[in-house]
Amino acid sequence: MARYLITSAIPYINGIKHLGNLIGSQLPADLYARYLRQRDHEVMFICATDEHGTPAELAAANANKPVDKFCAEMHKIQKDISVGFYLSFDYFGRSSSPQNHKLTQHFAGMLDKAGLIDEVTEKQIYSKIDQRYLPDRYIEGTCPNCKYENARGDQCEQCTKQLNPTDLLNPRSAISGSTDLEIRETKHLYLKQKSLKNKLDDWISGKENWPILTTSIAKKWLHDGDGLQDRGITRDLKWGVPVRKGKDIWPGMENKVFYVWFDAPIEYIAATNEWSDSKNLPDHHWQRWWRTDMGAEDVQYVQFMGKDNVPFHTLSFPATIIGSGEPWKLVDYIKSFNYLTYDGGQFSTSQNRGVFMDQALEILPADYWRWWLLSHAPENSDSEFTWINFQAGVNKDLADVLGNLVSRVTKFCKSKFGEVVPEGGSYGADEEKLISDLQTRLSNYEMLMEKIEIRKSAAELRALWVLGNEYLQIVAPWVVFKESPDKAAVQIRLSLNLIRIYAIISAPFIPDASNKILESLHTDDRSWPTNLRVSLSTLNAGHIFTVPEVLFAKISDESRKEWEKKFGGVID
Ligand code: MF3
Ligand code: ZN
Repeated sequence: MARYLITSAIPYINGIKHLGNLIGSQLPADLYARYLRQRDHEVMFICATDEHGTPAELAAANANKPVDKFCAEMHKIQKDISVGFYLSFDYFGRSSSPQNHKLTQHFAGMLDKAGLIDEVTEKQIYSKIDQRYLPDRYIEGTCPNCKYENARGDQCEQCTKQLNPTDLLNPRSAISGSTDLEIRETKHLYLKQKSLKNKLDDWISGKENWPILTTSIAKKWLHDGDGLQDRGITRDLKWGVPVRKGKDIWPGMENKVFYVWFDAPIEYIAATNEWSDSKNLPDHHWQRWWRTDMGAEDVQYVQFMGKDNVPFHTLSFPATIIGSGEPWKLVDYIKSFNYLTYDGGQFSTSQNRGVFMDQALEILPADYWRWWLLSHAPENSDSEFTWINFQAGVNKDLADVLGNLVSRVTKFCKSKFGEVVPEGGSYGADEEKLISDLQTRLSNYEMLMEKIEIRKSAAELRALWVLGNEYLQIVAPWVVFKESPDKAAVQIRLSLNLIRIYAIISAPFIPDASNKILESLHTDDRSWPTNLRVSLSTLNAGHIFTVPEVLFAKISDESRKEWEKKFGGVID
């Protein structure tokens, strides 16, 4: 048994996330957390809402709400949706929490003590029309690196380059669209990342087992030309963590707050503190996950995120941690993802294109989405959501393979033996072959899940389900029953037990269906089938069950077409 700290990139508070966001961090993190818990590891799975910065302010202004009220409401909405998707966070925190204020100020203080903070007079964009400074996403324009026209002032979504607003070509205000902008000078705190370059380089060089996607992005921003820059960690905004030095406001930083990308990753730590506070546990309960002087040396820390988040997690956040000089836990493994595209284009909030998490749950159960998204996770390249592909995945994998097996076995048993596990004799050659095939595939599945190879794990799981179907097809208990009911009883008893095993090993992907299967089998025994043969005789003769309702309803062509239209976005 080991201890795993798992964090998912914390979603911006600015709105309900789409399916691309879901498969880019939270859902794969949940898959891994669920699997490890089932294998009896101790898991701390943390997420939160990312509530500061220009995304929050812009969204609150759009919704005509004070930003604190907007954030509180949206946090609750995002939290409820995460419950709807069975995301099994141990805690879903808020980056605006007092715990995060305190920790963020603490880190800035430690970095200052280490001589890693500079006060820099810099040029900021001021909009006369908007009568304010326009940091980060308040500015939009053309990316100097890849020429993408809708790059934002903090980062280009297309090429992932971190930017300053003044880098953008043809800048315009995101509030008013105004191009009547001027440059004014104002003082900000800078984190001297450049002086940490060698330490970061050494640290990343040791991570040869990380996904190429992660290390290639990290190395690119570490070594390419102007890759690793000293970064401003304060902003001219009202909403955020006030910039303090000890108990007092940092001189010159009166109307400023910390930059959202400075405090957001610190929220991983703070949310763990929120977790212990919510349970009235003393601080060492969260510190044993995060402080290597408090027991965290033996924690395996795994982060999940989309590729645009990689520079912040491989460079900026480690710079904060390493620079503090304190014994905080650094990440051990970063699993990053490409993008999920929608029908040949991008998901788009503004154009209402694609499926958002709330809408997804309104039309179909969470497991349908979980299965399709995970089995098509954009691991090695971008992957595309199309309705036809989604319909095929759900209908074939879930309804025809797993659902059909459960239904055939339980219904056949009911009609011949009643809703009770039948008495049976010993296994023959077909059963022995099934067990050996299952064993090979199950070991492979476990290995892939441990390596967080998500698509391959899904394929292996599906192959495990197929083995059960093939077995049933070959032995054909409905034929055997006529001549030798005892033999059919062995086959059916084995199949009922196999269904229980499927429910257990499939739980990380489809937790709801898994629960339904176990409920219908009237069993609470969820122990992992470490010994298949033993596990296959868990439900004994005489054990009562109930034939379940249809586990997975097929998606009709009609529904598919309706949804294609409904979620296609504005075409005019
Ligand atoms: N809110 C950011 C995004 O959605 C992710 C923040 S991750 C953290 O891209 F590191 F800052 F926590
Ligand atoms: Zn770009």
